[in-house]
Amino acid sequence: MTRLGVILAPMPSRPAPMLSEEQIARRVRELGAQITHDYADRALALVCVLKGSFVFAADLARAIELPLRVEFLGVRSYGAGTETSGVVQITQDLSHPIEHQHVLLVEDIIDTGLTVAYLMDLFRTRGPATVRVCALLHKPSRARAQVPIDYLGFTIEDRFVVGYGLDVGGLYRNLPYIGVIEGS
Ligand code: IMP
Ligand code: MG
Repeated sequence: MTRLGVILAPMPSRPAPMLSEEQIARRVRELGAQITHDYADRALALVCVLKGSFVFAADLARAIELPLRVEFLGVRSYGAGTETSGVVQITQDLSHPIEHQHVLLVEDIIDTGLTVAYLMDLFRTRGPATVRVCALLHKPSRARAQVPIDYLGFTIEDRFVVGYGLDVGGLYRNLPYIGVIEGS
């Protein structure tokens, strides 16, 4: 089935599991411990890239033991489909300046890398002390922009995944595990 076919087909009610709740929870704890160790008591601004990262960022924030602020940035690069448009649109900007701060950009998934590349360029213009990237998932086979991923949950094959914040056409964000959309 083509990627377009995937979105036109009826939604399966239970996408096939790729990563279980337990696997995700264990990895998020490990990432939190690593970040806590690396920043060594420095204050951190966690930037949650909406909407897909809201579940991951909520769990990750609670696994980090640092003086932490959480900021939200709304981004859109997809229409209703499963292919990125390649054009990144900011739908909601940060509500506080990030100048002189240590910023950790939290992404649900890095696919082509275009979104994170765009955001890194944008953030650098705002004078933060440092900017690093933490992504739950990475699909290296589809990279179109090289982006540094400082903290990574899992590398996955090129399938369209949903759940734990990730959606297709706005649905499945509330699935507690990461599942695969059939035929993708
Ligand atoms: P990129 O700009 O191609 O790296 O795409 C990044 C964004 O595309 C992610 O933050 C997701 O919102 C979305 N995305 C990419 N692959 C998937 C997927 O398999 N499932 C759900 N969303 C995805
Ligand atoms: Mg996203």
